[in-house]
Parts: sequence; structure tokens; C-alpha cells
Amino acid sequence: MKLDTLITNGRVHTATRSFDADIGIRGEQIVAVAQHGQLRSTSRTRIIDAKGMDVMPGAIDVHVHLALPFCGTVSCDDFEHGPRAAAAGGVTTVIDFAIPSKDESLQDAHDNWTAKSEGKSIVDYAWHIAITDRKQIRQIPQMIEQGLPTFKEFMIYESEGWNSDDAMLYATLEAIRKHDAMLLLHAESPRLLDLLIERRHTPAQMKRHGARLHAMTRPNQVEAEAIQRAIRWSEATGGQLYIVHMSTGEGADLVRDAQSRGVPVLAETCTQYLVLDDSVFARDDGHLFACCPQVKTRADIARLWRALQSGREVSVVSTDTCSFTREQKAMWWDKEGGYGDFTKIPMGLPGLDTMVPIVYTQGVRAGWISMNRLVELCCWNPARLMGLDHRKGDIAPGMDADITVIDPSHTRTVRPDRLQSRADWNPYEGMKLGGFATHTLVRGTPVVENGRVTGTPGHGRFVERWSPGGQP
Ligand code: URP
Ligand code: ZN
Ligand code: ZN
Repeated sequence: MKLDTLITNGRVHTATRSFDADIGIRGEQIVAVAQHGQLRSTSRTRIIDAKGMDVMPGAIDVHVHLALPFCGTVSCDDFEHGPRAAAAGGVTTVIDFAIPSKDESLQDAHDNWTAKSEGKSIVDYAWHIAITDRKQIRQIPQMIEQGLPTFKEFMIYESEGWNSDDAMLYATLEAIRKHDAMLLLHAESPRLLDLLIERRHTPAQMKRHGARLHAMTRPNQVEAEAIQRAIRWSEATGGQLYIVHMSTGEGADLVRDAQSRGVPVLAETCTQYLVLDDSVFARDDGHLFACCPQVKTRADIARLWRALQSGREVSVVSTDTCSFTREQKAMWWDKEGGYGDFTKIPMGLPGLDTMVPIVYTQGVRAGWISMNRLVELCCWNPARLMGLDHRKGDIAPGMDADITVIDPSHTRTVRPDRLQSRADWNPYEGMKLGGFATHTLVRGTPVVENGRVTGTPGHGRFVERWSPGGQP
């Protein structure tokens, strides 16, 4: 069989095993995985020598916000720059969130996101559809038919017009159950949050505490109460629930307990919750680190790593990439008052460049998890839970040739000017990380070669998905 590309001599890692093998690629797919030396190349075959390298399925970041209008500005990594950062970090598929306004339809959201992404991305992409009004719930089947089986609701963000209340959440979960779909949920308790913010939102408090108020107004129970309530609605309706960006140890406990009762609840965490703690808000530039939910304590970090070790309590690592430049983050500054208003900081962090490197360095190298668990958390579970496992998340004949090669002997110090994100700062600046991609292939085409991003905008395609766990 003629091969277009042969990745030879590498150590291959899937979610279940690690082995030495060569990988044969024809067109966009893997056609053979065999012992070293068994696959024949021709003079036209591109050879990628992966001797001494780790070879894994391309990672899937199931939670990004590219060019999102949010907090009075637009997130700076768009469908061109976000995917470049993804590829450099070994991510070959990103899943965004298409968010309609309350008077738009789910189809409008899908069409708007199609228009803003077309022809730009070097990696494959998809989106979850956000539900922002109760009348949109009946449009769920129409979205599933178009390969969009995962939906999103936000318990907060009333000012953006995105928020759901309990009735909407309950009704959505009923529909999710009926149509065998999945609801992703931003779980923070809105009324409690409003109260805690209102108490602190005074010039005196803001002058005194600065960006620390972002954390002070979001104690752990803001997330825990919301997760607990959502679990109750999932239990009552049988609708599959997936808690996004879980940041607290309490959240992991609640998910574990609910799962042991048979409640259909899953959770993801993000890289920021695995390495950063709330001491960042005491820095002079602490406001840069504001995201929702905010990073928590060292104890939460340790509990989340344990949850990843278990492989059940937290099934996926993502980034919630929503990047803003220093200039955008400076919107919090009240020039006349001479203080920062914590309620005006654009919320979100860059993360795509560093997702795999953080899990690799802080997880695998630090001894928390194996390379197979890394693949499970960053590739296989995202594919399986988001309806992509017929094509992505594994290295086997018939799968898309989405492949990431990393050099286990390589480590570099994070510097924003050496990353692909358009943010001119990085939350992980100064950290020493391994696990950046030396080669990234998207459906057989190299988009990173020898650590350089070489992909052509428009190579990435929208990928249709199937109901989680369902058949193509
Ligand atoms: O701070 C964040 N996470 N920004 C993006 C919106 C969201 O809540 O995911
Ligand atoms: Zn969120
Ligand atoms: Zn998000």
C-alpha cells in the first residue's frame, strides 16, 4: 500500500497502552500501525523520524471561545490565531461555543459561527450550541441533525443576556434526556454572587483590595452550590450533565458522590485550575488573571489532580481559552477614581498553546498521571464524550491522521512572545514546560514541523459530531 506519510521509530501512546510502532498515513487517515520496519515507503512518502519521541493522538480542546464578544470587548484569539496556538500545543481539534442572543434561534448561532470561522483555521473545529432562552429548547433536534449534539447553558452572565434559571435548566435537561444529547453547564450561583459583589462594589473596597475582590466575592460555595443544584436536576430528569471548567475540590466531591448514585454527571477542569492559585490576585498585574470561575487554592489544585488520577470524577482537561490583551484587561481601570473595578475586567485567559505542555509537565513528569491517562483526558475522552470517537482521539487504522509528536527531552521557559496566542502576556510566563509539539498533523497534513507552525489557514474543517456515545 502506498503511503503518503510514515511516522517511524516513535513511542506511541493511546488511552490504553504504550508501544513502539510506525504509523502509515494515506490521504487523511491512518491506514496502518505496525512494528518498526514493517511498513514500506516510496520515494514520495514523507518520512517523519520520531526516534526518541512520544507520539500521541492530536489533542481535542473541547472548551474555547475564539473571537467572542464578551465583557464589552472581543476575545483576541480568533479562528486564525487560536488554532495556530492549538497546533503549536499539539491540539488538532477545538470546540467553541456558538451563543445566540435571546431573540435569535439556535440556527442563527450556528450560522453566525460558521460565518466567522470559515477559511481561517489550521485545525479542525466544531461548536457546542448555547441555549439562552426557553423557546430555543424545542430547536435542539434540528441542531443534532446537523452534527451538533452538545448544548451549553450559563447560570450567570445576566448582563450578557446568556443566563438560564432553574426552570430553563430543568426543561433543557428533560429535552437532553429525550434526544440523547448532553448539556454543558457553567455552574456558579448567580444570586449569591450578585449579593457578594454588591457588598464589595464600593470605591473604598476597590481601592483597598484591587483584583483580590474577584476571588473574595467568589468563595468555593458559589461553585459548589450551583453544581449541587444542577446535579439534582440531572438526577430528577435523567438528562446528561457535564460541568465545565470545574475549579473546586468540593465540585469533585459532589460529582463523585452523584456518580456513585448513578446520576449522569461528568466534569471537566481546565489547566489554570491545575497550576495557578488565588495568590496571583495579589500581584500588581493580578487583574490579568481574572477568569470565571477564578483560580482557587493549593488544596483545590491537589484535589483536582486526584480527580484526574481517578479518571472518573474529572473526565476531561480543557482550557476555556478566552484571551484578552493587556490593553483589553486594562478596561477595569477607573482613571478618575485611580482604582480598578473588579466587575469590569474582561474575564478569561489564553491557554491553547500550553494545554498539553501543562498536563505533560505537571501531570506526567510530576508523577500524578501516566502518558495513557494524559491521552485519555486530552484526546480520547474528549472525542468519546463529544461524539468524535469515530474519527478522532485514538491512533488506529481508520482514524483521522491527527497526530502530535513531542520530544520528552525538551523543556522551555514560557514567554508570551514565543507563543502563538495574540495575548501579549501569559498566565504561565516563566514556567518551565515540556510537551510542546515538534510535529502536529491534522488529517495527514503537517501544520507544525520541527516546532514551527506551517499550516495553511482554511485547512481546518468543521466536523460534524454524533450524540455522545452514539453511533456515526
Ligand atoms: O472567564 C471565562 N471563563 N471566560 C469565558 C466565558 C466562560 O464563562 O466560559
Ligand atoms: Zn463559563
Ligand atoms: Zn468558557
